[in-house]
Amino acid sequence: MTQDELKTRVAKAALEYVQAGTIIGVGTGSTANKFIDALATIKDSIRGTVASSEATAERLRAHGIPVLDLNDALAEVRQLSVYIDGADEFDGENNLTKGGGGALTREKIVACASAQFICIVDQSKQVEHLGAFPLPIEVIPMARAYVAGIARELGGDPVLREGFTTDNGNIILDVHGLRITEPDLLEERLNHVPGVVTCGIFSRFSHKGDVVLMGTPDGVERIEA
Ligand code: A5P
Repeated sequence: MTQDELKTRVAKAALEYVQAGTIIGVGTGSTANKFIDALATIKDSIRGTVASSEATAERLRAHGIPVLDLNDALAEVRQLSVYIDGADEFDGENNLTKGGGGALTREKIVACASAQFICIVDQSKQVEHLGAFPLPIEVIPMARAYVAGIARELGGDPVLREGFTTDNGNIILDVHGLRITEPDLLEERLNHVPGVVTCGIFSRFSHKGDVVLMGTPDGVERIEA
């Protein structure tokens, strides 16, 4: 089975977590795109969606799936029922690295505004410790050199994502060479650095995966935190 087929398989499996009549959060990336395509088959059963990026909003609308502003959605409901998105890595406690597509901040906001985060991945994303995938950090442009210095002090090698601006008008530093054994502490540390909008670690301090659905050639494995 190809990686693409595994992504399709796991995306379809996530439909089980979509409750009729609710507003759901939708992630960004190639696996989330497969989920959007699957969601189109049951679009009339949900009240609407909140998108974690402009690209996702565009794909949802192209399928005729209603997209709500998060503020409007939270005026109607206390929480979104579920957030469904991919990840770049997940560890044994369902801590995640996200942001390979640069949408980490909106992803974290929508995940935290949701009762449950169902993370959909193929088996290539499973790791013992986060960090092999460079850690994305969204940074306010004037703080680039300052935040890069802190990342170096923490043992990383920050690289500016060239030619990329986030949906929020900021830059991304991809930090290579970190071996992240305590994701919660690093998330908290980085998110307190002035100029950091957020980092791509999703741990207990934000919203790690409540359930990771992992696509394998033998089927979909359900991993609970
Ligand atoms: C987008 O910013 C990311 O957080 C994605 O969710 C993550 O990069 C996974 O993407 P793929 O599903 O394309 O691997």
